[in-house]
Amino acid sequence: MDKSSLDPSLIEQLKKLQQKYAVMGQDLSSYLDGLLHADYLTYWDYIHVDTLLSLQNPKTSFPDEKVFIIYHQITELYFNLILWEIEQVAQREPIEEIYFVQRLDRIINYFRQLESSFAVMVDGMEQGQFLKFRMSLLPASGFQSAQYRMIEICSTDMINLVNVHEREALIEYSDLEQQLENIYWKSGATELATGKKTLTLQQFEEKYMKLLKAIALKYRNSNLKQIFERHFPASREVISRLREFDQLANVLWPLAHLKSAGRYLQKAPEDIKATGGTNWQKYLPPRFQKIMFFPELWSEAEKADWGKAGVINALLKHN
Ligand code: HEM
Repeated sequence: MDKSSLDPSLIEQLKKLQQKYAVMGQDLSSYLDGLLHADYLTYWDYIHVDTLLSLQNPKTSFPDEKVFIIYHQITELYFNLILWEIEQVAQREPIEEIYFVQRLDRIINYFRQLESSFAVMVDGMEQGQFLKFRMSLLPASGFQSAQYRMIEICSTDMINLVNVHEREALIEYSDLEQQLENIYWKSGATELATGKKTLTLQQFEEKYMKLLKAIALKYRNSNLKQIFERHFPASREVISRLREFDQLANVLWPLAHLKSAGRYLQKAPEDIKATGGTNWQKYLPPRFQKIMFFPELWSEAEKADWGKAGVINALLKHN
């Protein structure tokens, strides 16, 4: 073939491009001019590496504060991946079983990474440094992670997120608003005696409550539990994934997290106060919170022993 002549497949591509631009009333030739002058894409521009690495701003000069910030950011990115999958599942119409299973597998994989990588916190900072720099972070707390709350809301019905002591009473005759008012983390950060909310909670509510309520309304009929019940209530494949997700999100990740709270904040003679002001020993353990996204998938015995060591080991072996 003459070197100056164009490959027929290239001409075919040009024709297709011309059609594509013509549909929008655009002139292909001008866009080809643009291509002629455009720079090649680089990795650093595409991934925004410089921006990414400019987002760590320690409040103190303790070197381990950077570990603390970056690991929180890594977690938030994984949370974002999880939400991304849930959003696509919720919008899929019609939804096939294989699609649902594959997306649940992705979510499970992300949570597994989060659980196992928590060692970066548990073993990765000097306690002496941590106990000092944390005082500069008051009253900020991971408690204020909105994406964590969104994952919960998009996974199940609001009633399953109600404080365990109110849940029974609110199962019947309560609306979404009432349930949201009694969501477990609000009571966790409210003094029982005075009813006073911690500053951490007050600030979080001010910034995010409207958005969380809107998300709760949006996912009322399209959260993961609803999709499961509507489309695949008898699927063993789906059920085993949902059980694993429930365990990871509500027992295993919380326990990995709790281990870091124990490692840094439990110090004789008395426990150190949390930055978010909760009574964290009573609030954080999954056996007290008893949050389950899919309670119908657990036996009465499993529910009664939720978050207790023996049950966790048995479940891990089973899955
Ligand atoms: C040394 C590391 C950590 C310690 C000592 C710690 C401690 C705590 C404590 C004491 C609480 C209870 C709320 C409060 O009073 O502040 C809490 C809540 C929370 N933290 Fe952490 N945390 C650590 C790392 C992380 C990381 C890396 C994340 C990732 C985003 C995270 C996310 C959360 C979330 C989502 C909650 C709310 C949990 C719930 O409501 O059940 N934490 N943390």
